[in-house]
Amino acid sequence: MVPQERDTFSGKFGIIAAAAGSAVGLGNIWRFPYVAGENGGGAFLLVYLSFIFVIGVPVMLSEFVIGRKAQLNAFGSFKKLAPDKPWYIIGLMGIVAAFLILAFYTTIAGWTLEYLYQALTNGFNGKSSDELRATFESFRSGSVKPIIWQLVFMGLTAAIVLAGVKKGIEKYAKILMPLLVLLIIIMSIRSVTLPGAAKGLEFLFKPDFSKITWKVALEALGQAAFSLSIGMGALITYGSYIQKDNKLTTTALQVSIADTSIAILAGIMIFPAVFAFNIDPTEGFGLVFIVLPNIFQQMVGGYFFSILFFILLAVAALTSTISVLEVVVAYFVEELKMTRKVATLVGASSIAVIGVFCTLSFGPLSETTLFGKTIFGLFDWTTANLLLPFGALLIVLFLGWYLGKKVITDELTNGGTIKVRILGALVFIIKFIAPIAISLVFLYSLGIIKL
Ligand code: TRP
Repeated sequence: MVPQERDTFSGKFGIIAAAAGSAVGLGNIWRFPYVAGENGGGAFLLVYLSFIFVIGVPVMLSEFVIGRKAQLNAFGSFKKLAPDKPWYIIGLMGIVAAFLILAFYTTIAGWTLEYLYQALTNGFNGKSSDELRATFESFRSGSVKPIIWQLVFMGLTAAIVLAGVKKGIEKYAKILMPLLVLLIIIMSIRSVTLPGAAKGLEFLFKPDFSKITWKVALEALGQAAFSLSIGMGALITYGSYIQKDNKLTTTALQVSIADTSIAILAGIMIFPAVFAFNIDPTEGFGLVFIVLPNIFQQMVGGYFFSILFFILLAVAALTSTISVLEVVVAYFVEELKMTRKVATLVGASSIAVIGVFCTLSFGPLSETTLFGKTIFGLFDWTTANLLLPFGALLIVLFLGWYLGKKVITDELTNGGTIKVRILGALVFIIKFIAPIAISLVFLYSLGIIKL
């Protein structure tokens, strides 16, 4: 059953780069600002940060433990560790989540390619804030162009996944991620020095406690799960490629801190500019695409920086999409016995078909709605706010209660060879705190329990 030679990441930096590559993506730079903007800014940030540490880090760690112990894909890991038990349902949910996430994610990733093209052709130059918005809206409501970009992006993802873990995923993540951080810092500096920027910082960092509601809590939980790439087994699959002597607690903590810092930096880059250019922070899906070109217009070297930025944003998105596609491919290869090539082709092309509907929901299908959400909105909302947190809940329950303390201790201390000072606390969080916190958010925000 187990393939003879599993690819592994080459050492400590490889796994951190790859896991951070999965975590850091459009979730940080596109999704975090739009969700934070819609949910009250500072209040949202506060809840989000607490969930990252109380729920996010322990769940990430749990995924690493499960994957490294089982040495299999997200589905196979549960089958192997709990034979004849229904826990593999988590794996199946993960595959479904992977399909839905990739479908809508490639819509936005395609937008980054169009924006790269516009940057290259100097398309933002001399346009007012209103004109930049109009350009964006006419682009996204079209059909042909956004679909072509989406398919190009899916093709790139498939090509890298085909190349395999070490050669493909690692190589790109290592070089380009640090460069992206540097560029966001440069742009943040420009943004906070714009006239009127202070209001944006206040919006992001000054919590208005009256804005904290159960709905905000659910959005924050969903965003935390989405941003850290947890809850669907992507990090179980990556965990299976982590070497046995890696200290998992350090890796999880470093990846989470890196991911969270980049989300906050993205906020510092976006919100001051939002207020400086009189843009509505509750703008929604299009927020960063409307704000960023405005910042470039106000920057020395804006032409150069805009090109570099959209290249890096597309790459950040790519290191995330490959981790999602890898979940599907590893499952197809190891469970359905396809070759890697066939698995990649089947996975990528079927997801692309669903993805086209997401892209069209900004144009011809914008009136097709369910529960007041378009196809895109529905995929985005249900995966982040339902599937991932629910997956995360089942994952900590599986590790904490089914596999139990001994397995956790064993994996976290690498069979007793290293010391983990916070081991006791971690076991307690995995068994009690994280599952209770997730359940409470679900029960209250979905109205299952009323205060
Ligand atoms: N975390 C990525 C981002 O922030 C998106 C992503 C990649 C993801 N892999 C995932 C989300 C797995 C959930 C599960 O852009």
